[in-house]
Amino acid sequence: MIEAVNLTRSFGSLIAVDQLNLNIPSGEIYGFLGPNGAGKTTTIKMLTGVIAPSSGEIKIAGLDIERSKLEIKGLISVVPDEPKMYDNLKGIEFVKFIIDIYRLPPKETMSKLMNIADAFKTDYLGKYIGDYSHGMKQKLMVAIALMREPAVIFLDEPTVGLDASSAGKLKAWLRNMADKGTTVFMTTHVLEVAEKMCDRIGIIDRGRLIAEGTLSALRENFGSVESTLEELFLDITGDSSVEALAKSLQEGM
Ligand SMILES: Nc1ncnc2c1ncn2[C@@H]1O[C@H](COP(=O)(O)OP(=O)(O)OP(=O)(O)O)[C@@H](O)[C@H]1O
Ligand SMILES: [Mg+2]
Repeated sequence: MIEAVNLTRSFGSLIAVDQLNLNIPSGEIYGFLGPNGAGKTTTIKMLTGVIAPSSGEIKIAGLDIERSKLEIKGLISVVPDEPKMYDNLKGIEFVKFIIDIYRLPPKETMSKLMNIADAFKTDYLGKYIGDYSHGMKQKLMVAIALMREPAVIFLDEPTVGLDASSAGKLKAWLRNMADKGTTVFMTTHVLEVAEKMCDRIGIIDRGRLIAEGTLSALRENFGSVESTLEELFLDITGDSSVEALAKSLQEGM
């Protein structure tokens, strides 16, 4: 469902994402982890057509992003790290706006949204977005992304700003969607979230994918059976070991 081949993006002389290869099947929850500035958001922006790659290829649901951008936008939902919304709209008006631009069936979609809003206690849709807290905006973005029942959902640090109960609900909701075939691509700094939720984990550091696999495969390759993801993460992204690991990975391929 998500395929990237040698995906690269530079900003001036900085290579933010460096020859990234991804192959994520339908129904998988993929956790994209890495230190601050590693290239996670840049990757999501490329995969969702927000910014163009410097080089490399992207396919979503088998469609080339350059040729089929509009079609792809209809298949995916995105929860960005900093949601851009219209402060002078009420939440409910923003929902209607999304229903309009994506030409979703209004009644059906609205009833899905109400279900989600109920579960997430999003009971403030009558208020102006400008008056929302960060977490309230985040929750509305999540609700809108979920109501569209996309084939692929991208979430950039979705649990930031969510209270414990909402974060828990989101985890359950995503697992349920994935079980029905939705592909989930998410970044997180909360390793416990990745550990509990993700079928597979990719670790990016300085633009390069330096490890990828199920948690147990990562443990086997990089740690011990008892290692927590936190220990693995620190080991794998630890400055001194990065080069050695990258090398051993390449040799292993
Ligand atoms: N528009 C831009 N112009 C210049 N440099 C950028 C731009 N966007 C990102 N970068 C740089 O690219 C690198 C990767 O940034 P990115 O936002 O992808 O990191 P990240 O992994 O999402 O980090 P975080 O965990 O802090 O969110 C950083 O060095 C950042 O400064
Ligand atoms: Mg980011």
